[in-house]
Order: sequence, then C-alpha cells, then structure tokens
Amino acid sequence: MLIKIPSRSLCLPSEITPESIYLARRRFMALSATALAVASIPSWASAAASNYDVDDPGAAPDWFMQKRESIRWKAVDVQGESITPFTDATHYNNFYEFGPDKDDPAANADRMPTEPWTVVIDGEVGKPGRYSLEDLIQPHTLEERIYRLRCVEAWSMVIPWLGFPLADLITRAEPTGKARFVAFETLKDPEHMLGQRSRFGLLEWPYREGLRMDEAMHSLTILAVGMYGRQLPNQNGAPLRLVVPWKYGFKSIKSIVRISLTEQQPYTTWNAMAANEYGFYANVNPNVDHPRWSQAQERRLPSGLFSPNVRDTLMFNGYEEVASLYSGMDLAKNY
Ligand code: MTE
Repeated sequence: MLIKIPSRSLCLPSEITPESIYLARRRFMALSATALAVASIPSWASAAASNYDVDDPGAAPDWFMQKRESIRWKAVDVQGESITPFTDATHYNNFYEFGPDKDDPAANADRMPTEPWTVVIDGEVGKPGRYSLEDLIQPHTLEERIYRLRCVEAWSMVIPWLGFPLADLITRAEPTGKARFVAFETLKDPEHMLGQRSRFGLLEWPYREGLRMDEAMHSLTILAVGMYGRQLPNQNGAPLRLVVPWKYGFKSIKSIVRISLTEQQPYTTWNAMAANEYGFYANVNPNVDHPRWSQAQERRLPSGLFSPNVRDTLMFNGYEEVASLYSGMDLAKNY
C-alpha cells in the first residue's frame, strides 16, 4: 500500500480523524458501557450509536428499504470481539480514487454519483448483460455478516456487512466450463474521483481485483450493499463492493461496475504495481511477512498511543474453513 513511513500507522486517532469526530467518539465510548446493558439492541448498535440510530437506516433508496425488510440479521457473527465503531469504519479508509490519506475518502467520496448504477457481467458466462443495481440485487435476500477485516498495512476492524453470497450471482450468470477466475473492476470517473486525475497518478485506473473461481464461490465471499444496518457509505464502496474476509483488505474491491468470468488469471492492481509485496492470493498469513513489515500482529481500531490494541494475527484471519482451498500449495510462494 502507499505507506509513506511506518510511523503513520502508529499515529493517534486524533491525528487521522477530524478532531470533532474524535472527541465525539471519546464521549461516546464513555457512554457505551451503559448502552451495552440494553439487551434488546444488537451488539453493534451501541458502538455505532455515536452517529446514527439503529432504527433509522438513513436516507436510502427504495430498493434498499425493501431489501431491509427481510434481512437475516447476524447470519454470521464474530464471537467475543467488539464491533468497530461506525465512525472509525467510515473515517479511516483506503479508497485511493479519492486520495491517499485515510480521511480523504470520507471527505471526497460523496462527489461520486451512485444512482443510477449499472454492473456489467460478461466473459465466460451463458447470460452476459448490463444490469441496473436494483435488478442485480432483486433476487437476493440480504444477510448481515459480521466479519473481521484485516488490511495488509496491519490494522484491522470488525464490520457488520449487509450483503449476499457472490456464488448466488455467479450461478445465475451461468458460468461456462472455461470459467476459472472472476475479475472485478471499479468505476472509472476522474470527474468525480479526484485520485484518478492524471496529476495524482497513484495507481493505474480503474482499480481491478480478482479471485480464483473456488474462492469466489466460497460461502464466506459476499457482495455487500450495506453496513451497520444502512446503505454502504460512498467511502466504503457504495453501492456494491466485494468482501473476502480471509484475505487482505485490498482484495475487497469497492464500487464495482464490472464482473467478468475469465479463463486466465486476471490483472490485479496492487499485484501489477508491486508483485513482490502484494500477491494475487493475499491470504491473511501471520507467518509470511510483507517485505517492509511484519504480519504477525495487527492494530485493532480504534487504537492509540496509550491503548494500542495490538493482537496476534490469525491464519486466514481466523477463517480456517477456507484452508482446504489451498491444500498442497506453498503459501509462502503463493502469498
Ligand atoms: N477498492 C478500490 N476501488 N480502491 C481502493 O483504493 N482499497 C482497498 C479495498 N478496496 C481500495 C478498494 C484496501 S487497501 C482496503 S484495506 C479496503 O478496501 C478498505 O476498506 P474500508 O475502507 O471500507 O475499510
């Protein structure tokens, strides 16, 4: 990733979020112990309550409100770990289309229009097409999946996503016998994504990612349209993003406009930029260090100088059920 100096990842939350938000969060944290005692509130609600009401999904389009009626809450939970406060999940982001700093996406991503939104599905499928977001989501029931998110930069969060299995979408598209990989592409829109303007030149746009077919079909892999009970904020990848919880966060591509099934391993942005640092697989692995830092531990947000909140990183980010996908593979070589 575009880590300028290692000490950046050790800075205080007050240095990386606007001070008013940081102070509001501190005030909230003092109150949240009381809130946690209210059993009828979902576990993440108190953590999120600093800036939204659980019963209020915010201003959301009709399709989201309709889908929200039938959400399977807590379809996947994380035992014994707290949900990351909403403020951290929405103000400490990587979305380089909106700038290189962690608070750039929250400041700039609202410029991106997300309605109308279409997604192209093509390549090795029997039913290629261009779908409106509404039509794409329509057949799917949304589930809440509370997943750990581990960034390759060694910070982590726990986020309650709202989404549906990618496998269901792929099955509907009727993959041909040649489909071995799935390639994803983010919107290219330099007018609204200032990080894509040539003078910034951080990455080659559009941002692209990919999975092997069996990874894409795994039941843990989802396409998310919401988080914390509401529609995805733009900085988190509205209106549609991938979430692959056992892989480093850079695989979870945001604001998807194209999903292509391919025979060959697809081009992926970070791997193309620095193959020795960012592999195609990018499975969370405490035993394989990044060339410039250790991956043995991580900083769970929120964290600060006096409460660094450091914990051991788990193999496959704790999702051991995916290990069989890689049996017989040398994960130090296929990082
Ligand atoms: N997708 C796009 N299109 N552009 C990006 O810069 N950053 C990735 C991933 N998806 C990125 C992206 C990285 S490095 C991480 S860690 C996660 O998004 C961060 O997701 P979050 O900001 O919602 O926590």
